[in-house]
Amino acid sequence: MADEQGRDPGRRDGRVRVAVLFGGQSDEHDVSLRSAQTVIGALDPRRYDVRMVGITRDGRWLSGGDPMAHLVAESPMFALGSGAERAASGGKVEATAPGVLPAAMTGDVDVVFPVLHGPRGEDGTVQGMLELAGVPYVGAGVLGSAVAMDKPMAKTILAQAGLPQAPWLLVTRKDWDREPDTVAAAIAQRLGFPCFVKPGNMGSSVGISKVHDAAELGPAMAEAAHFDRRILVERGVNARELEIAVLGNDEPIASVVGEVVPSNEFYDYAAKYVDDRSELIIPAKLDGTTLIHLQGLAIDAFRALDLAGMARVDFFLDKDTDHVFVNEVNTLPGFTSISMYPRLWEATGIPLPELVDRLIGLAMERHQSGR
Ligand SMILES: Nc1ncnc2c1ncn2[C@@H]1O[C@H](COP(=O)(O)OP(=O)(O)O)[C@@H](O)[C@H]1O
Ligand SMILES: [Mg+2]
Repeated sequence: MADEQGRDPGRRDGRVRVAVLFGGQSDEHDVSLRSAQTVIGALDPRRYDVRMVGITRDGRWLSGGDPMAHLVAESPMFALGSGAERAASGGKVEATAPGVLPAAMTGDVDVVFPVLHGPRGEDGTVQGMLELAGVPYVGAGVLGSAVAMDKPMAKTILAQAGLPQAPWLLVTRKDWDREPDTVAAAIAQRLGFPCFVKPGNMGSSVGISKVHDAAELGPAMAEAAHFDRRILVERGVNARELEIAVLGNDEPIASVVGEVVPSNEFYDYAAKYVDDRSELIIPAKLDGTTLIHLQGLAIDAFRALDLAGMARVDFFLDKDTDHVFVNEVNTLPGFTSISMYPRLWEATGIPLPELVDRLIGLAMERHQSGR
């Protein structure tokens, strides 16, 4: 049966043709490779004909052969070469010029599974391209992706929807360069120390610092400003970090709650991906009332941001006051074999192969129902 785009999921050998996108131009390139390996491994080859599409750090799209092997090997050939090149595994990989899409993206697939984290992947840009190509894709649309990725914008919308958040201030790079003393005074007065300084638009803790006193503010602002013109400064919460997975379109469901116990002073890049010592506790030890409250907030946040498919909603539970705050919403959460999102569903009764099936089904459903 063909859909309105003339695509026929039953064509050829009856398998659904899924393009899995990975790599990308953000600082989370490597995390994306690991997430995509998990997704690809979970797609049942009897049901899915998987096409790998890799995106290099400089924005070239690789298809055919084994783009995963290429990106994993970070072949220096790719930094220099152009046109078709040989994959490490022997198959022929086609590389486009930066920003040019491979033919594999524009008509030869039934659904796209973007497994890209961070800017130019999770932020609505790739989603916009897929809308233009008229192809169903897993996860949130343009608007939800863009808003959720942008921390200050997401906070504004979540505040409007009445969701509790830690107090915060938005500072531009220019503000800081011109009037550091005024900005520092506002931070000290309205947020106090410790506070957290973050690039407006990033992920995986890239560019984030915990600032213990005024003296540490300068280097932290410089670090965040390196990644974005807009910098978010947030009151530090003495927090338990709790996370909930959400799945669905118009009727999303929430998973059990997981807890992260970071191996470092906070859940920084090293604690997330390097040292492997951070602990994930699933399910988190919580009383029933808090559990239900958090699940309700997770679904409210998903709806407020107009998300689709999946999201992981992260919370802080203040150890001193028991208050809960929404920290952030990730529309393309980590999907590595040890990541919270797939593990939360596993613990809720949806094993990984079923999870990727459902996500693909939700992508098709959303595409068919129009916006
Ligand atoms: N306001 C805060 N209070 C306490 N810890 C924070 C705060 N903001 C961030 N952190 C710590 O920094 C980590 C990364 O911050 P987060 O906003 O989640 O950024 P990312 O999008 O990079 O994951 C959090 O998981 C937490 O450990
Ligand atoms: Mg986070």
